[in-house]
Amino acid sequence: MMLASPASTSLRRSPLLVCILLVLFIQSYFLFKYNSQAAAPTSSHRNGFAQQHLAGETTVVVTRTALVGPAGTTPVLQPLADGPLRPAQLNDIVLVIKTGATVIHARVPIQMITFIPNFKDIMIFSDLKTKIGNFEVSDALARVSPDEAGNSLKYWKKLQDLQSENTGLADSDGKMGDLKEGWALDKFKNVPILIDTYQKFPDSSYYLFIDGDTSLISSNWFPYLLALSKKHDPYKSPIYWGSMALLNNMPFGHGGSGYIINQAAMRRLIPETKLFDESFLLDLERNYTKIASSSCCGDLVLGRAMTDRAGVSVKHKWPYYQGETWWSIPYHESNFCNEMGTMHHVLPEDMQEIWDFEQAMLRKTGMDKWRPNGWTDEHELGIKPWKFSDMPPEAKSTNLKDYKYILFRDMYDWFIAPKLPKELAKDEDGKLTESSVRVGWDNRAWKEMELNKDKVKAEGTEQWQKDAITSEKNCRIACEKHKDDCLQWYFRDGICGLGNKLNYGRRLRNDGTYEEWYKLGVSGWIPSRIEKKLDSWRSKCPGKVV
Ligand SMILES: *[C@@H]1O[C@H](CO)[C@@H](O)[C@H](O)[C@H]1NC(C)=O
Repeated sequence: MMLASPASTSLRRSPLLVCILLVLFIQSYFLFKYNSQAAAPTSSHRNGFAQQHLAGETTVVVTRTALVGPAGTTPVLQPLADGPLRPAQLNDIVLVIKTGATVIHARVPIQMITFIPNFKDIMIFSDLKTKIGNFEVSDALARVSPDEAGNSLKYWKKLQDLQSENTGLADSDGKMGDLKEGWALDKFKNVPILIDTYQKFPDSSYYLFIDGDTSLISSNWFPYLLALSKKHDPYKSPIYWGSMALLNNMPFGHGGSGYIINQAAMRRLIPETKLFDESFLLDLERNYTKIASSSCCGDLVLGRAMTDRAGVSVKHKWPYYQGETWWSIPYHESNFCNEMGTMHHVLPEDMQEIWDFEQAMLRKTGMDKWRPNGWTDEHELGIKPWKFSDMPPEAKSTNLKDYKYILFRDMYDWFIAPKLPKELAKDEDGKLTESSVRVGWDNRAWKEMELNKDKVKAEGTEQWQKDAITSEKNCRIACEKHKDDCLQWYFRDGICGLGNKLNYGRRLRNDGTYEEWYKLGVSGWIPSRIEKKLDSWRSKCPGKVV
């Protein structure tokens, strides 16, 4: 049986190691700074650092060799050789980020140094007015009526008190304590955020609402919005698109997956003449704060406002808008050739990796240099804003068939293909099985089909299904021998998951013994079947990436 390679994950899991690396990093920085100042204060090209820094790139990384290079090597700080590739900056769409005071510092900074600069207009909302770097962060709850919101606002009050005491939100050990309950505030934010954003940017063609743990494949958005605008005039034809969720028959765009609302839809909710009519806005806010106080979630409340008041129901545009990240996405025929728009539940470390992936793709395809027809130097320099609602006539003739979008396929090839275990496991007789296996791993096969003690009691359950939940071996055999479309399986005592989609999943926490780890779960994949499926999914994707 194969074990997961512990090297990379132990780095992530060990705060001590990370601390040591951080200290080394800081040390090397000052060592280098001191050395270069003392020895060659006028050199402008020492190690290429000063020169590239002057050229305007502020991204600085420390290379591996700086930390582990041969003895005697001067540690160097080295900027990325060719900097981040940035496509044309997106105009005429406001990127709206919703987060909370207790998580903002963990989540938003990585968004700010990766995809946020690809957008011109940005609003960040928390439940406390603050700043992140040079960005103003607005308090989403500032316009919420306390008498409608009821008891939930007590956490908000507490946040305000802590801020005014000026001692910070965290305890001295960095923990947020009972402030974790800040999520209770979240459901009140969406409608006020929409009002504030619309007042600040009343003329934008599009408003894209995401969360602090949402990631974007930002380079896909310009061609995507161009295609969308060609079909639906953003000022005339209302759009409220996202990944549709349903609760009590109310459809709404799932917040973490992101949803987009265009100008025409905004106007249906808040007519032009009412945009600064505070008594109208108060009425609107009060109505939906009241609804929020007895609802679960703010994205649902917004869906209700859009449906009931604006008469625009969300359109399900999954998987462009979707709620998984690279390792939790179930890759399948249904998404493999699709363009990627959003990802959700993205940890900061994953957000960095997704950014690295997008950069690598742009280097491969050159699509950072793509511009629509009618794009001029003035657009490039930001002198003339690009308007999707009023595009130069030639823009509409832009041939998007040649655009190389970043697809789920590309994400699979970059992240999953090299990591999926391929070595076949042996059974107890020493014979090769058809499966590759990882212990202490959850590949989420149970999401597609889960056999468990309750399910196998049902009438018509076959013997192999009953057996499957009794041992790892039987679960594996259920996948290998009894289900032709089964690509992967997951076994834990009493549970056998059988998946016809391809999921990498995540290592399960391993703080105990091997046996304890094993009990958490074992995952298996069938490499020969996976290869065949991939060939067939792949053959349906548009033109090959060079
Ligand atoms: C608020 O609700 C009341 C009562 O249902 C309704 O008459 C009014 O039009 C609503 N206002 C807005 C702005 O939605």
